[in-house]
Amino acid sequence: MKKLKNKVAIITGGAGEIGFAAAQAFLAEGAKVMLVDLDEKALKKRIKSADNDNLAYVTADVTKEKEVKNYVKATTKKWKQIDVFFNNAGIEGEVKPIAKTKKEDFEKVIAVNVTGVFLGMKHVMPAMKKNGGSIIITSSVAGLQGTANMVPYITSKHATIGIMRTAALEGAPDKIRVNSVHPGVIDSRMMRSLEEGFDGDNPESVKKMYKEQVPLQRYGKEEEIAKLVLFLASDDSSYCTGAMYNADGGLTA
Ligand SMILES: NC(=O)c1ccc[n+]([C@@H]2O[C@H](COP(=O)([O-])OP(=O)(O)OC[C@H]3O[C@@H](n4cnc5c(N)ncnc54)[C@H](O)[C@@H]3O)[C@@H](O)[C@H]2O)c1
Repeated sequence: MKKLKNKVAIITGGAGEIGFAAAQAFLAEGAKVMLVDLDEKALKKRIKSADNDNLAYVTADVTKEKEVKNYVKATTKKWKQIDVFFNNAGIEGEVKPIAKTKKEDFEKVIAVNVTGVFLGMKHVMPAMKKNGGSIIITSSVAGLQGTANMVPYITSKHATIGIMRTAALEGAPDKIRVNSVHPGVIDSRMMRSLEEGFDGDNPESVKKMYKEQVPLQRYGKEEEIAKLVLFLASDDSSYCTGAMYNADGGLTA
């Protein structure tokens, strides 16, 4: 039997690389999937390429409570329930030392990566109360260790662990499981942006340095994160809650 048969999932950052890889993994296992993203054009492209009646979208900014309420409402209106929530939207911010980081830039990253994650929990958890469910938050290796020149992102990804642990404790009586995933360097748009940020003249050298730091000697693929997310979304992980799951090629070992 398919692992997510009759399950309804919401994925924020659903038009992005990791979000959409998870959507494809969920669809293949029988789920109905609501993609949520700020970027309507990208959402439409994803919907067109998937060509699947079990896939729909809502355009929303996860930092705006009204829009968060709306993506929850749109999903329950269409499919009656929410069983899985991949709380994943995130931005990387700028690569700068603390002394050069503008307050607005710090707050912008916190708004998406922390407030957006919090608002999602706030409005999805009540909708899961009746039947229970599984929530997966995307943190990062940046939530487990520091990196110089990335203070907004590092701070935000540490903070999501606090949200995950609190929500796991609050959700447990209602059989809502909550875990976080911690991807390492994934071969993606976000890493290209960070490589540019660290060395605009020679981004390839940054890539080479990262590769050498990873014990498995390579970047990860978004599908490799999607497989971990699928495990946490499904009943295969029925005794897992309140925990952090790394997929980082050994980077944090
Ligand atoms: N790519 C990596 O190497 C990597 C590593 C570790 C963790 N992560 C985390 O994985 C998650 C997904 O990243 P990705 O690699 O797929 O990046 P991505 O940029 O491809 O996807 C992120 C998506 O989030 C959307 N988004 C941004 N701000 C939003 C907002 N305010 N409201 C709604 N949607 C918004 C973007 O439009 C985009 O589609 C992020 O939380 C990221 O921090 C990524």
